Amino acid sequence: MTIQPSDNILIVDFGSQVTQLIARRVREAGVYSEIAPFTQAAEAFERLKPKGIILSGSPAGVPEEGSPRAPEILFESGLPILGICYGQQVMTHQLGGEVRPGHETGEGGEFGRAFLTVTEDCKLFDGLWKVGERHQVWMSHGDKVTRFAPGFRVVATSDGAPFALIANEEKNYYGTQFHPEVVHTPDGAKLIANFVRHVCGLAGDWTMAEFRQTKIAEIRAQVGKGRVICGLSGGVDSAVAAVLIHEAIGDQLTCVFVDHGLLRANEAEQVVSLFRNHYNIPLVHVDAEELFLSGLAGVTDPEAKRKFIGKTFIDVFEEEARKIGGADFLAQGTLYPDVIESVSFTGGPSVTIKSHHNVGGLPERMNMQLVEPLRELFKDEVRALGRELGLPEVFVGRHPFPGPGLAIRIPGEVTKERCDILRKADAVYLEEIRTAGLYDAIWQAFAVLLPVRTVGVMGDYRTYDSVCALRAVTSTDGMTADIYPFDAAFLSRVATRIINEVKGINRVVYDYTSKPPGTIEWE
Ligand code: XMP
Repeated sequence: MTIQPSDNILIVDFGSQVTQLIARRVREAGVYSEIAPFTQAAEAFERLKPKGIILSGSPAGVPEEGSPRAPEILFESGLPILGICYGQQVMTHQLGGEVRPGHETGEGGEFGRAFLTVTEDCKLFDGLWKVGERHQVWMSHGDKVTRFAPGFRVVATSDGAPFALIANEEKNYYGTQFHPEVVHTPDGAKLIANFVRHVCGLAGDWTMAEFRQTKIAEIRAQVGKGRVICGLSGGVDSAVAAVLIHEAIGDQLTCVFVDHGLLRANEAEQVVSLFRNHYNIPLVHVDAEELFLSGLAGVTDPEAKRKFIGKTFIDVFEEEARKIGGADFLAQGTLYPDVIESVSFTGGPSVTIKSHHNVGGLPERMNMQLVEPLRELFKDEVRALGRELGLPEVFVGRHPFPGPGLAIRIPGEVTKERCDILRKADAVYLEEIRTAGLYDAIWQAFAVLLPVRTVGVMGDYRTYDSVCALRAVTSTDGMTADIYPFDAAFLSRVATRIINEVKGINRVVYDYTSKPPGTIEWE
């Protein structure tokens, strides 16, 4: 069965951290795409019958022995190809050009912002760049092309990369030394749109409505007559996943809402009412606060908290799955940023920054297969899909909330008392943000309860209470973030209200750290 739209692009992944951004840019241009690791690219090519190919970047270097190559069939296909960074180099190498390590060329690599100059016209620039113009791009490469393959010419250069952009227009091959998929290449999205629409000739009429239909068909094909349970976390991701899966397979889906007692104020009630009353989706509501809090007693290490919460979630699921007579599949609202920060594309060892529990903590012993229909999407795309599915705006627009909930916003030991204090402070903060009309301009805002007590004075009394930190960031995908620049009057209003209204807090501070070097959550 073919589920994918016939107008599609194959993205060959050589292991870059930003390959999914290429897919996102292609989706933004209104074209369906699929990513295949280079090891499975030939098979994906046969199955998808794409209209164009994009070769990704890679942590590897073309001159290194054993480094990845693109299947020859891609070059034999006659299809347009865009090679990005490593993709440009591997294409050059495989078509008869030369790539050398930066240290051999005596120039080293090029990392970060760079400017290129357009030297010749080409189809990729149509309606966008003109000869003689200078444009900002984002470079990140050690090796470089030193001699291009027959038929290519240079169409743009930069100081560090004389072959910043090369083209073979007879074959519709393009190679960029820079990364057009990242936002630091301001015109990058338009270059990718030009490639898929103009060079590959695709209409660009693919929409979220079609994504919905494609996913529904995929879910049906994967699940068959099997039973699925879906864990609801209270957040938008699991809700969108559940509604989509319900649309695909109806009452073969049972939702299990494990209420770990680490949610924000009123959240549990909202979830139950949305699913039971609004959608009429079978829902089991498990009140497991005591189980989670007793297990968290004495645990202070952030990863230990995540591991415990992730494992206990699964334990409770298994128990519920048994009670409802077994399920073959476990559905999760895993998004792409959760995947990229938790595992490497090869499945091999990679740097784990945080083991987001819905991916990294999943025990091997789980006997169910995973259904993860949102795995390639970014947060704003999930919201668009949620709207497409008719979820209420208050739910769809909600700030992201981590699976381990308030446990990772209470550095140190998590207790019921500290959760209650944090819930109150957080509610005051969010209420003020909504009143000021700032909620939608912020990606994520929350309070953090610190394990630090400071001295204060209220009336004639000395106080010795906890510090509350406020966090608010803007972001497009959660992978990088900037602080939200509240004005001083707003922050001082929130601080005063929290100290006056929340017993247990006597000092409020604002966190000015961007990501990187910080992360969004404190743990
Ligand atoms: P960080 O703190 O890594 O957060 O900058 C990036 C985004 O991920 C969320 N986050 C999590 N989500 N399980 C989740 O489901 C987790 O363990 C987890 N840790 C962080 C965080 O809220 C932000 O949106």
